[in-house]
Amino acid sequence: MKPVYILAIETSFDETAAAVLCNDRLISNVVSTQIDVHKEWGGVVPSLARREHEKLIGGCIASAFKKSGLKSMSQLSAIAVTYGPGLAPALEVGVREAKKLALELNIPIIPVNHMEGHALAGFLRNKHGKRYIDIPDAKFPLLAVCVSGAHSEIVWAEKFGHYQLLGQTLDDAAGEAFDKVGRMLDLGYPAGAIISELAKRGNPKAYDIPRPMKNSQDYNFSFSGLKTACLYQVQTLRKELGKKFPNIIPDYCASVQEAIVDSILIKTSRAVKKLNPKMVIFGGGVVSNSRLRVKARAEMKKLGVPLYFPAKQFCTDNAAMIGYAAYQKFLRGEVLHDVESLQRDPAVNIDSRKYCD
Ligand code: KG4
Ligand code: ZN
Repeated sequence: MKPVYILAIETSFDETAAAVLCNDRLISNVVSTQIDVHKEWGGVVPSLARREHEKLIGGCIASAFKKSGLKSMSQLSAIAVTYGPGLAPALEVGVREAKKLALELNIPIIPVNHMEGHALAGFLRNKHGKRYIDIPDAKFPLLAVCVSGAHSEIVWAEKFGHYQLLGQTLDDAAGEAFDKVGRMLDLGYPAGAIISELAKRGNPKAYDIPRPMKNSQDYNFSFSGLKTACLYQVQTLRKELGKKFPNIIPDYCASVQEAIVDSILIKTSRAVKKLNPKMVIFGGGVVSNSRLRVKARAEMKKLGVPLYFPAKQFCTDNAAMIGYAAYQKFLRGEVLHDVESLQRDPAVNIDSRKYCD
């Protein structure tokens, strides 16, 4: 069979990204982060995200195409693009660019759900056909746990493309919880990686931080109670300790990290025990967290289920994972020929079958 070349575009949040795949093999991958722009605001500002995506998208696509080694854009079979969930002004930039290219090249678009990209990132292959991690072919049904700066979701997959959202965050996402506590501690944005680094020197039992919803019989998360508890604790500690407050930051980071990690794993374990998946895969920026990796490995080993994490460069937002999900859609014939009909959908769920038939 002729190789399928897909150019994938991702602009759902604060990374502008483009990648080229040959079937399920990644042949070029470009990610341009906007963190420096959003940093001073302590979070992602949608209007600035749009402006940055507009500035960066052309260069990202050109660079990904150049690095792919393809001779001409006419070799592409389809353009893949994230159409949701995400920030509306940010998604619009990628969708508009994808439409323009698809129309110029007279090829179809493959609209991809951002969360499907996170869920499948572990299966990507490099240009030699080797997977980036030691993972077998997907075994269904599988459980995907997606924890990022904007989403926390537990997803049941019967096969590629058929997902059921078992549970999700009722308020903040796991990454957002890291970022908000980081802001209380003046650690800068995004704080997940900084907290995880500081936590290495801290005692996870030093501070009593709640594990919200740990006894609820569902698969949902909530991090707003944790955030509020931290806000009061940090205010009190600052008052009590004065200039000595910075000394307790590593212990505080370790305790917060432990609470967030436990909250994720309590619901993951509940789903594994009840539903008995053949494998568990994690995805999303928070999966870079090494404490989460260590504790998840121990927990899933106890439950006897194989567990996989994507390579770290594919945990945070990127277009390679979008290209992988798109290739699976291409194999199922889920491509959109009526390019103009594509609309961004900022709140779309992973179990939506939009653009699939
Ligand atoms: O997946 P992602 O790039 O963006 C969204 O789709 O939302 O995830 C970004 C999130 C941020 O909240 C960041 O603080 C968090 O992932 N993060 C981490 C770590 N590295 C990034 N959280 C905990 N530990 C880390 N090492
Ligand atoms: Zn993401």
